[in-house]
Amino acid sequence: MKAVYVREFGPIEAMEIVDLPVPMPGPGQVLVRVKASGINFAETRMRAGDYGGQTVPFVMGMESAGIVEAVAPDVTAFRPGDRVFGRARGSHAEFVVFDVAHLMPLPDRLSFEEGAAIPVGWLTAWHGLITLAEVQPGQRVLIEGIASSVGSAALQIARWRGAWVAGTASRDEKVAKAIEWGANAAYNYLTDDVPTRLREETGGHGADVSMLTIGGEQGAKTVAAMGEDGTVLLFGSTGGRTMPLDLNIGARNLRLLSFSITSSKRFLPETMETFKRVAIPLFANGLFKPVVDRVLPLDHVYEAHRLVADRSHFGKILLRVP
Ligand SMILES: NC(=O)c1ccc[n+]([C@@H]2O[C@H](COP(=O)([O-])OP(=O)(O)OC[C@H]3O[C@@H](n4cnc5c(N)ncnc54)[C@H](OP(=O)(O)O)[C@@H]3O)[C@@H](O)[C@H]2O)c1
Repeated sequence: MKAVYVREFGPIEAMEIVDLPVPMPGPGQVLVRVKASGINFAETRMRAGDYGGQTVPFVMGMESAGIVEAVAPDVTAFRPGDRVFGRARGSHAEFVVFDVAHLMPLPDRLSFEEGAAIPVGWLTAWHGLITLAEVQPGQRVLIEGIASSVGSAALQIARWRGAWVAGTASRDEKVAKAIEWGANAAYNYLTDDVPTRLREETGGHGADVSMLTIGGEQGAKTVAAMGEDGTVLLFGSTGGRTMPLDLNIGARNLRLLSFSITSSKRFLPETMETFKRVAIPLFANGLFKPVVDRVLPLDHVYEAHRLVADRSHFGKILLRVP
């Protein structure tokens, strides 16, 4: 099978398309013929050797959608021919093995590309906003990097919960798109004073929940935009791994909650359970819409990583697998 392979960590050229044997599903696993695979910011760090726990060599990719090819004898939830999607390492390939707990049925209404645009971004946003922060109707939610794959999913989830939603981005075009996708407010953090604007637009209240991923100076501004008793969800380090923190935040009684969907003990029993039961039907009826920025062929993976570095995308960049 064709696969995007990394022998040694390095720049974009460290990735090569190679022929590998089709993997075999072990107990509790499902072999899927991949049709589309999502691109994630984290993969650019994996390829560069800047992602905890990643060793070489490896097949790139963390999520995909496709058709079940074979199931282990102990798997009863899926059958060959089922349309499916979910999270599986090694997804930038013609076949990938899923642990059954991470596989979901793909609603008929969604294409494979749309299905592959969901898993990492939407499950991360769902875990943060629904499982951890338990966002309530009327709360004010501030989403850093609202144009990112996680951010654009968080926007729809928070709006569906009945929250007032604001987001940040580094370009005016992405700010405008966030409004088109339903944000109540959106700011260009390079030109707008985010804490001041957010306080003005929330009657002085500030944010009840924020999703913080950029860090650095922007992270400090997001924390400054928080209202009393707010929850800051720390889930990424896109702009660097440190940020200044004014310890005067103690006076506002904030909760700083860090999480990873890969290591959180609440992810499988709570987030996957509610996502399958509540979110998938919302995709099936069209209320939730996967945000596809563009689809490229698998062998254009270099271009996909260049686009991530360029930061002009809104939603998910995808690879179509032949
Ligand atoms: N905790 C978890 O379990 C979990 C799971 C999945 C993803 N994540 C994290 O979530 C974040 C978003 O991931 P994603 O795949 O949704 O990202 P993405 O779609 O590639 O978008 C990333 C965005 O981050 C912003 N950004 C700010 N500073 C940046 C910098 N120095 N370099 C690159 N981008 C920068 C850019 O938007 P602007 O230019 O508009 O700011 C960029 O478009 C990442 O930090 C990722 O590691 C965490």
